Amino acid sequence: MGIEVVVEGLTMSFGKQNIWQDVSLTLPAGEVSVMLGPSGTGKTVFLKSLIGLLKPQQGRVLINGVDMVNSPERDIYETRKLFGLMFQDGALFGSMTLFDNIAFPLREHTRKRESEIRRIVMERIELVGLLGAEDKLPGEISGGMRKRAGLARALVLDPQIVLCDEPDSGLDPVRTAYLSQLLIDLNARIDATMLIVTHNLDIAATVPDNMGMFFRRRLVTFGPREVLLTSDEPVVTQFLAGRREGPIGMSEEKDAALLAAEAAGSASHPAGPRDIVPQLEPSPGLPPRAAVTRRRERVLRMLDQLPPAARAAIRDTYARGAAAPTLTMPAPGSGS
Ligand SMILES: Nc1ncnc2c1ncn2[C@@H]1O[C@H](COP(=O)(O)OP(=O)(O)OP(=O)(O)O)[C@@H](O)[C@H]1O
Ligand SMILES: [Mg+2]
Repeated sequence: MGIEVVVEGLTMSFGKQNIWQDVSLTLPAGEVSVMLGPSGTGKTVFLKSLIGLLKPQQGRVLINGVDMVNSPERDIYETRKLFGLMFQDGALFGSMTLFDNIAFPLREHTRKRESEIRRIVMERIELVGLLGAEDKLPGEISGGMRKRAGLARALVLDPQIVLCDEPDSGLDPVRTAYLSQLLIDLNARIDATMLIVTHNLDIAATVPDNMGMFFRRRLVTFGPREVLLTSDEPVVTQFLAGRREGPIGMSEEKDAALLAAEAAGSASHPAGPRDIVPQLEPSPGLPPRAAVTRRRERVLRMLDQLPPAARAAIRDTYARGAAAPTLTMPAPGSGS
């Protein structure tokens, strides 16, 4: 089962450039989370900080009692083996076949026999739908296949925490839909804690249990998906709608005058309630996701602390899938 990742008060700068400050969140064990944010807000830097490849100046990242920021390098190295990492650029070795690329972590980090390696690699290749392509070089296959090869490689060491940096970039809409399903199926199979950085709004709407967003050197929000999907924060609504109007500009933040001008004309974009698309279910034949029950209990326990719109959306979600007899939901209108 997946492992909880607790981030406390993380602050990161490169020289004088502050990337983000005081970031705190918990990735619940075995749940799927998505991180959004405009380009350059430090999402990749955040992923690298979780595995201890970058060292924030302040704060902690706790995994099984090991602090990936401040613990001895030996402990960090050991804990890093719990992770499977799918890089933004695929990061395959161009001169190696897909098979050898995917086998690489096993050959590097384990002493498994070649027959055992073959079994594991072929299993992962099948999982991501690349059977038959194992002898091809990365340059001979499409971008989408390279992405899936990167995912297969992230999975060979049976990771308990899976980090995916923009798994969808460069994929067509249909491939992206398959990828979304693949991520959910993967979670059902291995119950790993997953964090996906993406700009893709369909993935954001259908895959995660939890969502967060970076903007202006802060973690704007992180919590159950319903919170972000019903949020009125201008930066969140702008991002989710893919609009130019709002605080996010092309190169950096917009200046105040432009924002004021937009606000004056904002009647054309009323911030009405948005429909929440149901989360994807695992494909037929797969076990249910183990995190679903844990998540429901966790979220219902925190219901009182959530904004009213999110609360209503969560009640709606769980009322729709009302199969669970143990479900106890606060009556509508309780709380603030
Ligand atoms: N090793 C580094 N040294 C110095 N600055 C860095 C380093 N890595 C990243 N940065 C800076 O940190 C900022 C955030 O970069 P990051 O790659 O995390 O953004 P991102 O949110 O992943 O963007 P995108 O969505 O485009 O991938 C950028 O300004 C980048 O130049
Ligand atoms: Mg990035």
